[in-house]
Amino acid sequence: MSTGNLRFNAAAAGWDSNPNVQKASSLAYDAILRYFPNAHNFDVLEIGCGTGVLSLKIAAHVHSLTAVDSAEGMIEVLKDKLFQTPEVKNILPVHALLEDPDDPRIRPDPTRAGIEEVEKLAPRRFDLILSHLVLHHISDLPAVFRTMFGCLKAGSSIALTDFEDFGPEARRFHPEAKMDGVERHGIPRKEVEMMLKDAGFVDVKVETAFRMEKGIETVPGEGVKGETMEFPFLICMGRKL
Ligand SMILES: C[S@@+](CC[C@H](N)C(=O)[O-])C[C@H]1O[C@@H](n2cnc3c(N)ncnc32)[C@H](O)[C@@H]1O
Repeated sequence: MSTGNLRFNAAAAGWDSNPNVQKASSLAYDAILRYFPNAHNFDVLEIGCGTGVLSLKIAAHVHSLTAVDSAEGMIEVLKDKLFQTPEVKNILPVHALLEDPDDPRIRPDPTRAGIEEVEKLAPRRFDLILSHLVLHHISDLPAVFRTMFGCLKAGSSIALTDFEDFGPEARRFHPEAKMDGVERHGIPRKEVEMMLKDAGFVDVKVETAFRMEKGIETVPGEGVKGETMEFPFLICMGRKL
C-alpha cells in the first residue's frame, strides 16, 4: 500500500468536515457545469473521487457516475453515504487503482440493476472523465492520461481540476503535516498540456477555472493560524477523436 493510501484511509472519516474540501468541490462543480452544461445523458467516470463530495453533486446532472478511488477508506465512506441516500441510484463506487481501461470493476452500469457477472460485460466507455484535486498526487501522469484516454468514447472529453503550480508559493497549498503523498505542488500548465497531447487528446485546453482562498501556515509546520492565500485552479480539457 502506498503512503498516499494510508494517509487518505486515515483522513476518510473526517474528510467531509474540512471546509476546504467542501469549498473546492463546490467551485469545481460550478466550473464543470459551466464548461459542460449539456451533460444530462453522460456516463461519467471520476478518478480519485474521495468520499464523493463532488461525485454526488455531479451525479444529479448526468446519467451515471462511476466513482473510483485507490483508498478503500474513502470508498467505504462514499458507500455509507449511498446507503443513507437510496434515492441516488446512478453512482457506482469502485475501490481501484485504475490502470486498465478494460478493468472489469468499472464495467457495470449503476443504472442497470441485476448485472452480477462483471467479467462477462463488455468494457465500458465514458462520455466525460473527471478528477478533482488528484493530479498533484499522481507520480506517473502520462500513464494516467493514457488510461483516461482509453476509457473514453470517441468524441468525448476529460475535465480535470486541480490547483496550479504558479511558482514556489504554490507549495503553501498544503500544510507541512499534509505533504505525504503530494507528488507535485500543483499542476504545471504547459507540461500538462504537452502530456495530454502526447496521450492522444485533441483540442487540449488548460485554463484557469476558478480561484480559492485557503488558510496557510505562516511558519511551516506550525499549523494554519489565520493567514490566507488565493490559489488558482486549472481545468485541463481534451477530447478523444
Ligand atoms: C486530495 S484527495 C481528493 C478527493 C476528492 N476528489 C475531493 O476533492 O474531495 C485525492 C484522492 O485521490 C485518490 N487517488 C490518488 N491517486 C489515485 C489514483 N491513481 N487512482 C485513484 N485515486 C487516486 C486518493 O486516494 C484521494 O482520495
